[in-house]
Parts: sequence; structure tokens; C-alpha cells
Amino acid sequence: MGKSRNPNAEKWWETGVIYQIYPLTFADSDGDGIGDLQGIIKKLDYLNDGDPDSEISLGIDAIWLSPINQSPMIDNGYDVSDYYDISDTFGSLEDFDLLLSESHQRGIKIILDLVVNHTSNQHSWFIASSQSKDNPKSNWYHWQDPAPDGGVPNNWLSYFGGTGWTFNEVRQQYYYHTFNENQPDLNWGHSDVKRAIFQVIRFWLDRGVDGFRLDASSVYSKDKYYRYNPVKFGATDKNNYNNQHHLYDKNQPENHHLIREIRNTIDEYEDRVLIGETFIDNRLYDSTMFYGVNNDELHLAFTFEFPFSPWYPGYLQREIIKKELITPEGAWPTYFLDNHDIPRHLSRWIECSLCTNPLGIAQASAAILLTIRGTPFLYYGQEIGMVDNLDIPPDQIKDKAIIKSDSGELPPPRDGARTPMQWNDDVNAGFSFGKDVDPWLPVNENYTEKNVEKELKDRHSLLNFYRQLIKARKNSEALRFGRWNSLIHYPYEHLAYTRKTEAETVLVLINFSYEKDLTIDEYIAPYTWEVLVSNEREVGKIIDLPSKLYPFEVSVLRRDN
Ligand code: GLC
Ligand code: MG
Repeated sequence: MGKSRNPNAEKWWETGVIYQIYPLTFADSDGDGIGDLQGIIKKLDYLNDGDPDSEISLGIDAIWLSPINQSPMIDNGYDVSDYYDISDTFGSLEDFDLLLSESHQRGIKIILDLVVNHTSNQHSWFIASSQSKDNPKSNWYHWQDPAPDGGVPNNWLSYFGGTGWTFNEVRQQYYYHTFNENQPDLNWGHSDVKRAIFQVIRFWLDRGVDGFRLDASSVYSKDKYYRYNPVKFGATDKNNYNNQHHLYDKNQPENHHLIREIRNTIDEYEDRVLIGETFIDNRLYDSTMFYGVNNDELHLAFTFEFPFSPWYPGYLQREIIKKELITPEGAWPTYFLDNHDIPRHLSRWIECSLCTNPLGIAQASAAILLTIRGTPFLYYGQEIGMVDNLDIPPDQIKDKAIIKSDSGELPPPRDGARTPMQWNDDVNAGFSFGKDVDPWLPVNENYTEKNVEKELKDRHSLLNFYRQLIKARKNSEALRFGRWNSLIHYPYEHLAYTRKTEAETVLVLINFSYEKDLTIDEYIAPYTWEVLVSNEREVGKIIDLPSKLYPFEVSVLRRDN
């Protein structure tokens, strides 16, 4: 390994910690049971009050807000009906400006989710486009005539299940949607569409946002001949999204050109970031293309290595090594454990041989995320150990976007990981004071045990472990931009790795088991170390290089070189 970074070029999106908020369930200020912008403003001090030694703050540097634009909420905001306005549910543009200025005062950056692969079918653009075949917006979406037999124009599928084509009676044509039929894909090949999208981008940059997370940014462009996707060799179910080679509806060469153009616009403004979802069949190698040939596309490209990993040290390390090897020179890696589309990691990593200790898993995964080389993203509630709510009654399900496949199979529901943030043990976990309204999704029953108020008071809580790790990162240049190097080649029970700059070395030791003897393969000089963060050792103490670990120990040590 050995990639590091010039400290003079430190960027906030490389060394900072980014926190994803799902606005519907983060904090409700007006008691209607739904989260809102004023609610987020009230919680900013919890995220970062601007004091590096704060007793109450998590200490994050930036917020990524899942969509807050006007939306009929079929896909909970990922179906925008007006890019220039804030959803009434969340508040107003004035509230947004206040959120922006209150955040900036505390040193928190604001990143918006930009959902421009598709709009809602209730967006005025789509309403106009679907009126006729020859109106000014008639080609703003992907309209195609039926096949000669009246069926769908080609075999493209929806990622959410079933065909990607929906018939429109008025036009007697089909339109294409990568996701739900209420989310028609925009035709990026049309210059007016592009112009309209770039106007949206500038509108928010001019307003002062610090960057975007591009939703579904690998599927913007489509084959202009709408050719059939080849079906994978041996696949029995041709109508399963994962059984096609997405040659013609995903990751087209033009797609990279489009992202480059967005990046050019971003670069006209000072210090803004471009993040994107790359979403290439989990093929990490392909995803790195989204950094661009000359690092001129995304600053940070999301891939799903930890979400798709089992809780096993060798596997996790392999993912880190892969990413270290293939992240292009000059580009910067990024990692996350959880987001709003997948089960939370403490709910995923339950079927493993070494996981008799859930707090240990939570501490170890926090330490990995916050001490490897790359920008960490936290998903709200992860820091207090929130798990999925698996008991949401069917009539309270809010995720209406996912469609049943032809075989009748439903993809796993996403609502479990989207339940209200657990602030305290009051009614609705302190998320909403509305006693007579149901919160957007039911609060997880464990809220009396797992909540911010309680965990802030408990020195040994997961929340305080996260706070210590984030603070340690802030104060350590090795953790922010040092090289990563593993000390164990074939990890079975332990992970041991270093982060290193000229001046400093950080040593991270993680025990996944009861195995005490630490066997390191790489030479490491027998110096003494200062304990930075640990669930077993006294912080601040100077210790010898450990040869034995405590069961499930997680320790981050440092020394000056
Ligand atoms: C992205 C979002 C997901 C949404 C989809 C369609 O994958 O993360 O929540 O449903 O795009 O916008
Ligand atoms: Mg509200």
C-alpha cells in the first residue's frame, strides 16, 4: 500500500466525517409525526456545536440530507415534483436558509441529495411531456412506441422489480423508468433537459449548499437505439434485474461525460463536493471509473463493499485492500456501513460465528469505519446502535416504491432502517411530541435502552465511543490522511493495521473473538504507544506494544515517529 496525501491539500470532504440524515424520521419540531427542517436545526448542537471539546456533540463535519424537495413521497422524496421548493412536510425555503446558516456557523457543511435521473410523474415536466407526442417537452423522457405485438419496447427492467416500461394511454406509448413507474427517467440526451438540470444545480449552489450526493448517477444516459440488454449466460429468470448485462441502460460512456460536466459546474464554485452512487452490480472495479480518467468526475464514489461483506476480519480486510489498490492515484476512497436502502449493519451482521458480543461488533465496526483511509459516512442512529425495526405492520409501511417481481417475490423492505431517531425515553423516543399522531414509522421498541440522552451520560456507551473516535481523527493527521498498512496477512481473529505519516503512526488493534495472542506478520518496532481510544485500556496511558489482546478489544494507539 502506501497511498497518502499532501497535508497542505487537506479537503473537508476527505478528512471530515459526513452524517446522513433521513429527514422524515430525524426530528419533528411541529408534532405532526414527520421530521422537518426546524427539527434538524434544533438538533444541530448534538451533531456539532462548534466546540472541539463539547460534552454533547458527536463532532461531525457535514450533513448529507436525503431529499427535501417537493415530492408525492412514493419513494419518500426520491421522486421530486419541484426541484426549486422544499416539501411542505419539511418546511420552507426560509427554513432551509436558516438550516444552512445555522449549520455553517457551527462548521457543518450541507450536502443535498440530487435526484435527477428521474422526476416524479407528478412533476410539471412529465405532466406536460405526457400530453402529446409533439409538445415542447415531448422528448424530455424516454418515450417509445409499443413493440409490433403491442408489448413493451425492449427487455429493460426496473431495479425495483418487473418491466421498466409503463404504457401511457394518451400518447399510446411507453415511458421508461429505472425505478418505480411513478419515477419516469429524464432524457439526458435532450439539450433542454440538460439545461434545466444544470439550472437546478446552480440554483442550490448559489444558495450556498456545499455539494451534492448524486442519486443513481450511473444510469443517467441510455442507449439511443434502445437495444436489448443481453441476458447473462445460464440465467433462468430473464426478468430478474441482476440476470441482465446492463449494457444499454447503465454506465454508458456518455454517463461519464455528463458527470464531468456536473463536476465542471461544481468546480466553478469554491470548495464544493460531488459525491455519487455508482451502483454497478457491486463491481468495485467498474465503480472506480466514476472518479474519472483525470479525477474529473466524482470526488467520492459510493460502492457497497461493507454492506455486502460478512462480519469476518479476513473478508473486511480484503475489501479495504481492494479499495486501496484500485482507488486511482489522486482520488480518495469513501466507506459507509449503513444507509437508507439497506438493513443496518447491527441487523445484518448477526449470523456469524464470532459475534457473541453485539456491542463489540458495534465498537469494532465504528473503529474500522473511522480509522481506515477514506471519508466515513455515518447513517443517523448508527452512533447509538440503532437496529432495524422488523415488526412494522403492513399497513404502516411507507416504502411504496419497491415493486413485486413477476415471481411474486418482494425485495426486502427498506423501512426497517428508516425508523425515528431515538433521542430519549419520552413519548415517540423524543422524535415527535405529537401524542395523538403516529410517527412516520413506528419507533423501535428498544428506544428506552438505546437513545442519545442515556448514552451521552454513560461513559462506556457506543455513542461515547463514536465521539472519541471522531475526536481522535480530528486530532491525528495519521488518521486523517496517513497511509494504510495491514500488519496481519491472513486475519482470522484479529485485525491490526497502521496509519502513518512522516510525523505520526497510529496502530489499530481489533479482536473479533476471545483469542488473546496477537500474532503480527509485518515487523513493527517495539516502541511504546499512547492509548487514544479503547474499550479496554485507559485512554492517555503509555503502553508497550501489546502481545495479548482482551476479548473483543478495540484499541487505537498512537506515537510520534
Ligand atoms: C437511490 C436511492 C434510493 C431510491 C433510488 C431511486 O438508489 O438511494 O433510496 O429509491 O435511488 O431514486
Ligand atoms: Mg413535522
